[in-house]
Amino acid sequence: MNNPFSLEGKTLLVTGSSSNIGRKIAIRCAEMGAKIIVVARDEERMKATVADLAGNGHQYYAVDLSNAESIANLAEVLPVLDGVVLCAARFDSTPVKNIKRELVQDMFNTNTFANFDLIQKLLKKKKINKGGSIVFISSVASMRPYKGNSLYSATKGAINSFSKVLATELGSQRIRVNCVHPGIVPRDGGVREGALTVEQQREEMAKFPLGMGETDDIAYASVYLLSDVSKWVTGIDLIVDGGQSLI
Ligand SMILES: NC(=O)c1ccc[n+]([C@@H]2O[C@H](COP(=O)([O-])OP(=O)(O)OC[C@H]3O[C@@H](n4cnc5c(N)ncnc54)[C@H](OP(=O)(O)O)[C@@H]3O)[C@@H](O)[C@H]2O)c1
Repeated sequence: MNNPFSLEGKTLLVTGSSSNIGRKIAIRCAEMGAKIIVVARDEERMKATVADLAGNGHQYYAVDLSNAESIANLAEVLPVLDGVVLCAARFDSTPVKNIKRELVQDMFNTNTFANFDLIQKLLKKKKINKGGSIVFISSVASMRPYKGNSLYSATKGAINSFSKVLATELGSQRIRVNCVHPGIVPRDGGVREGALTVEQQREEMAKFPLGMGETDDIAYASVYLLSDVSKWVTGIDLIVDGGQSLI
């Protein structure tokens, strides 16, 4: 049977695919037939991701995306891509009054500037095919205020704005640019550093209209945006949060 969500013949870069959401995106995209390029810092965890990918021909690159030179080197060695998922990020929950300048710099380097830089370099080197798809993994925290999230939300808010302008600039090449906004999803294999405890997360998620989600919810939303099914979709904010942002 014809699968409209097939990613057969596509080569996709997924940053932050050594763990949790990014890892699940890589796994589901490989199941749909894509060749995956895994990018993160931790080589052992990337190897584990690659080992779990269906099919063959997948690759990984150990890169610290907070470093501009490393991004330039990565763009140099990457093949031409049909899709890019920008998922790498770090979280922080420091209250505004305690935020230091170094933390601002580091958060923006990793969550924001790395993505701007990587996309710009790929475009300059013509490494994103016509008809390609760029997916930014943002957050509902970029749209709704949560105590302690000021810096994290700001780094993601910049992504939201950037992606809309990029969508207008790349439309003529039929390259689509969209954001996925996850709500809180339980972590595959433990709690995220600096975030809520497991108990606090469960209490929060119990309030969502659809209760608790999973990393697959984000992964399949990404598959939709990477597949040709969404060929007339650009500049959107796809909120995948079980209704978290409604309450
Ligand atoms: N989990 C949630 O509830 C939730 C909710 C809303 C939005 N999101 C967003 O979804 C995305 C994934 O979240 P997650 O929970 O899966 O996070 P995670 O488990 O902490 O994974 C973050 C990924 O980014 C990579 N990474 C971090 N800093 C990096 C750097 N400097 N260079 C290269 N890679 C780097 C990490 O790999 P290494 O450590 O190996 O480098 C890891 O693969 C993030 O953009 C996050 O903001 C998550």
